Amino acid sequence: MSKKTYTALLIGAGNRGNEIYSTWSLNHPDQLKITAVAEPIETRRRLIAERHAIPSKYQYTSWEEALSHPQVADVAIICTQDQQHTAPAIKAMQQGYNVLLEKPMAHRLADCVTLVQAAEKYDRLLQIAHVLRYTDFFQRVFETVATGELGEIITVSHRENVSAWHMAHSYVRGNWRNAEESSPMILAKSCHDLDILYWMLASPVQTVSSVGNLKHFRHQNAPEGAPQRCLDGCRVADSCPFYAPALYLDLEPIYRGLANAQNKTMRLAGKMMQRNPAVVRSAAKIYPGLHQITEYTGWPRSVICDDPANPESVLEALRSGPYGRCVYHCDNTAVDHQIVLMELFNGISISFTMHGHSFEEGRTIRIDGSKGTLLGKFGWDRSFIDIHTHRGAGCQHTELPNNIEQGGHGGGDARLIEHFIQALDGVQDPDLTDARSSLESHLLAFAAEQARTTGSVVSMSAFSSTAEKLGRENSESLQI
Ligand SMILES: NC(=O)c1ccc[n+]([C@@H]2O[C@H](COP(=O)([O-])OP(=O)(O)OC[C@H]3O[C@@H](n4cnc5c(N)ncnc54)[C@H](O)[C@@H]3O)[C@@H](O)[C@H]2O)c1
Repeated sequence: MSKKTYTALLIGAGNRGNEIYSTWSLNHPDQLKITAVAEPIETRRRLIAERHAIPSKYQYTSWEEALSHPQVADVAIICTQDQQHTAPAIKAMQQGYNVLLEKPMAHRLADCVTLVQAAEKYDRLLQIAHVLRYTDFFQRVFETVATGELGEIITVSHRENVSAWHMAHSYVRGNWRNAEESSPMILAKSCHDLDILYWMLASPVQTVSSVGNLKHFRHQNAPEGAPQRCLDGCRVADSCPFYAPALYLDLEPIYRGLANAQNKTMRLAGKMMQRNPAVVRSAAKIYPGLHQITEYTGWPRSVICDDPANPESVLEALRSGPYGRCVYHCDNTAVDHQIVLMELFNGISISFTMHGHSFEEGRTIRIDGSKGTLLGKFGWDRSFIDIHTHRGAGCQHTELPNNIEQGGHGGGDARLIEHFIQALDGVQDPDLTDARSSLESHLLAFAAEQARTTGSVVSMSAFSSTAEKLGRENSESLQI
């Protein structure tokens, strides 16, 4: 329980703003109350205003308008797109707000450093939404390493397995398809993973190298005669893994994922929705709880139109919007795989693979130490950790709570907000992803991108000193 109810100005009421922060606040009204909103899209702004009974005086059409007024709430929660983080975050801190800022902190290296310098200068809490630190899975991995159970850590092999349909949704058709308009995929998607590795291994990185490219989602890989849009009579509609109506209308991957859930009802409903949806729809008349499955309106459907409950709106979005495009005929530049190699000053070697061609969504990790090995899977369907010690009798297997039941990012979204509130209360939290510690993962992502695009090995101490200098110059030009 927090010391007081904190009030919040929500900046950006899109997917994260509405689905995560607004919903959490509604479920915890004694801890966080959204009392003001800044959002240019009227339907989204109105939705938040209605959900939180926000008077019209505190409904703004942009962050620029909201922050032109003296401070109207204790905190600002910033959920605008990647390239719109720096300016509102700096202005909010100047106005007196403590800030919860979505990742990545910023899409430019100098801006990331400037944000940290601004938080330190204005003495504000600036927390970055690195949600994975707070999950049961990564907390357990962290503790295993920290307690020395695995002995001296020698190597880490970590994979971020982005499912093929998620890749298509976000990084081929969607908001992060083009690094120039958003941010490089290693920053946008993997700053979480780099944060986890940095946090867990507690040693500075000495060198970074990287390879990767956009291999598959290119025009030359389009099946013969594939039209620009899936609905324009695609001849491979029945077999293409990326056929948009299968994803957004039939929700095939959502039900496939549910069919593996640990919760029996969800598992059964997921299986039945794939085989015979009419049966589940009839059952929903008797068990209304099933409506959340039969009338699913969440991510990714909620991203493609503002009325995801209406199949006609979804269909129209596929006919005319970006999410109905053939994945081989998009304007995407984001890589579909990237591998980063890192050597730490304490001698640990790390390989990190991020790719968008997985049959399922999730992370897998292997840590080998002088006394044992940890193998872990953090997935949407299940998460577990196996520990094999070199002199042990066998494997210690631990199943961790299911992600689906815990909500976004395996419960990480909710706990991130709880930790933010605790920090506002003044509780010192060693796991908190404050701006200074989050900067490290961002520096690693920028260094990996430089290494990949130039084919070089980046020395992190030189890279960090240059970044600090660029940040100082940037801060001076922004009069911070
Ligand atoms: N922490 C995580 O794990 C996680 C997961 C997904 C996305 N993200 C990040 O969260 C951020 C938001 O992502 P999203 O999917 O919610 O994006 P979104 O596009 O759904 O939402 C962004 C919102 O900002 C609004 N906006 C645009 N200009 C504005 C202005 N001047 N003032 C106020 N609002 C403005 C847009 O209209 C939109 O509604 C991104 O940076 C993304 O990378 C983080």
